[in-house]
Amino acid sequence: MNQRIVVVTGAGSGIGHATAALFRDAGDLVYGLDIAGAVPDGVASRECNVGDRASVKAVIGAIGEEHGRIDVLANVAGVVQFGRFDTITDEQWDRVHTVDLKGPFMTMQEALPYLRVAKGNVVNVSSVAGRVPQAYTVAYSAAKGGLTQLTRSLALELSPEGIRVNAVCPGTVDTPIVSEVAAMFPPDLDPRVADRLMMMLPGPAISPAEIGASIVYLASPAARMITGCVLAHDGGMS
Ligand SMILES: NC(=O)c1ccc[n+]([C@@H]2O[C@H](COP(=O)([O-])OP(=O)(O)OC[C@H]3O[C@@H](n4cnc5c(N)ncnc54)[C@H](O)[C@@H]3O)[C@@H](O)[C@H]2O)c1
Repeated sequence: MNQRIVVVTGAGSGIGHATAALFRDAGDLVYGLDIAGAVPDGVASRECNVGDRASVKAVIGAIGEEHGRIDVLANVAGVVQFGRFDTITDEQWDRVHTVDLKGPFMTMQEALPYLRVAKGNVVNVSSVAGRVPQAYTVAYSAAKGGLTQLTRSLALELSPEGIRVNAVCPGTVDTPIVSEVAAMFPPDLDPRVADRLMMMLPGPAISPAEIGASIVYLASPAARMITGCVLAHDGGMS
């Protein structure tokens, strides 16, 4: 009866996929939202475009109405935009802002009535690029920086109601997004700029499940006094 209702966006791949599996393994009832890919076994799959208000409203509204509450919303869905500033098109700017910034705005708004019932919480996946400057990711950094501040500001606004809002800022995680980014590096990348894209701690790239564990922790009762936190999980990159 105490099973939590957990909604994870971007559950069809990478960090979202791993996060949905971890919530499932913890005994939660998990809904995985995505426009592509397959969610983990034992996770309820819902097609949802987080950049489209009607889609977000329909899917989150249906989950909320079915259970009467939402305990956890993990906003993991995201796209990258990488390239020199002077080459960024309006379409690229709009896409990254629609998915990475307006998406969490809309999912949080639609989930809020149900989060209120549960005294639930939100974990947004921002990025190292949403905490510190990063070259060649200007549109993405602007969107993720916006998401970081959206997280902090909403945490303050909702704290009197006991609803927590936190963010995790991953460094380089071993997912398809990373190969997409690597393919977009300019061939003449200045080594001083490249150095700022490196993690300090030795060892392999961060795994999706490691970021998932941070998300699951922030969403857990053990973190009941943590809100407005922007957790750097980036191997010392920032
Ligand atoms: N991989 C990294 O190194 C890294 C670093 C920092 C931050 N992040 C962030 O982590 C999050 C997850 O990234 P990932 O690396 O797992 O990428 P990924 O490409 O493996 O997964 C992203 C998922 O989001 C989904 N998605 C994209 N647009 C969507 C939309 N409009 N509606 C619903 N779903 C949509 C994709 O279909 C995909 O399944 C993103 O927000 C990303 O910005 C990733």
